[in-house]
Amino acid sequence: MNESTSSMAGVPSLGKIESLEVDLLLEAIYRRYGYDFRHYARTSLVRRIRNCMVREKLSSISELIPALIHDSYFFDRFLQDMSVTVTSMFRDPQLFKLLRAEVIPKLATYPTINIWHAGCATGEEAYSLAILLSEFGLLERSRIYATDYNSNSLKIAQKGIYSLDKIEEYTKNYQDAGGTQLLDDYYIKDACSLKFSQKLQERIVFAHHNLMKDGSFAQMHIIFCRNVLIYFDKELQNRVLELFSSSLIHRGFLMLGDKENLEFSSVVQLFETHNRQAKIYRKLLPTLRE
Ligand SMILES: C[S@@+](CC[C@H](N)C(=O)[O-])C[C@H]1O[C@@H](n2cnc3c(N)ncnc32)[C@H](O)[C@@H]1O
Repeated sequence: MNESTSSMAGVPSLGKIESLEVDLLLEAIYRRYGYDFRHYARTSLVRRIRNCMVREKLSSISELIPALIHDSYFFDRFLQDMSVTVTSMFRDPQLFKLLRAEVIPKLATYPTINIWHAGCATGEEAYSLAILLSEFGLLERSRIYATDYNSNSLKIAQKGIYSLDKIEEYTKNYQDAGGTQLLDDYYIKDACSLKFSQKLQERIVFAHHNLMKDGSFAQMHIIFCRNVLIYFDKELQNRVLELFSSSLIHRGFLMLGDKENLEFSSVVQLFETHNRQAKIYRKLLPTLRE
């Protein structure tokens, strides 16, 4: 299927002119700000561009171009629109159960443990891992790096404060993930929010990192990049997977999302599949450039 004619529920196909407008918009953003959305999957990108046009009361995609290149605050708002930040504590509880049974015991053999959550959104995945490590007595020798390009999400993550509306979902996920304590032990709550404890928070470094262009910053024992690659085209997926490959220690783990995998990627031969269904991979070989 041609990208310009592809459509998903709720997203009308792009005509030739609109497709050209999208190309020009993405090129302008890249040249002005260095954010390369040219390598994002078109259908969901276009849906989000259209949402932004409605909010800003614009009638054509082209009208976004001058607004974006002249007004960096407008661009900041646009960036938030481009980012899908759905996440949860212990999202996919069965995966966290497997981490408990098969992965964390292997990480326990290292004197220090570096973990990277790439595309951490509002931080719940990083707090979930901090809880897991604490239950294995490993938190004090772990450093969790949680990164995203969405500054608003990072601010929420840094505060570690979440709505109490989510408490039932969080608690159920924690229990389904094999939690050994009470989730209440890890936060304090007031009338409408919960705040994760300082003990968890101080092991996590939340930082801005753009997978479109930023590089490696430490050698990791495990990298989580779940539900992020689905928004990228093949070329960007490969670039990011090569970055992860060069950031992982030998025998380090890579965790992908439910709908993502390494098959047909440029790094497939550098990894062994630890669990195909759970999308857990393990680095086998030196990276392509080593
Ligand atoms: C759907 S959330 C996934 C959150 C979490 N990993 C999970 O699975 O629950 C996708 C996140 O990827 C981030 N993201 C998308 N493109 C990115 C990029 N180029 N660099 C860094 N983060 C990116 C978005 O801002 C968003 O917070």
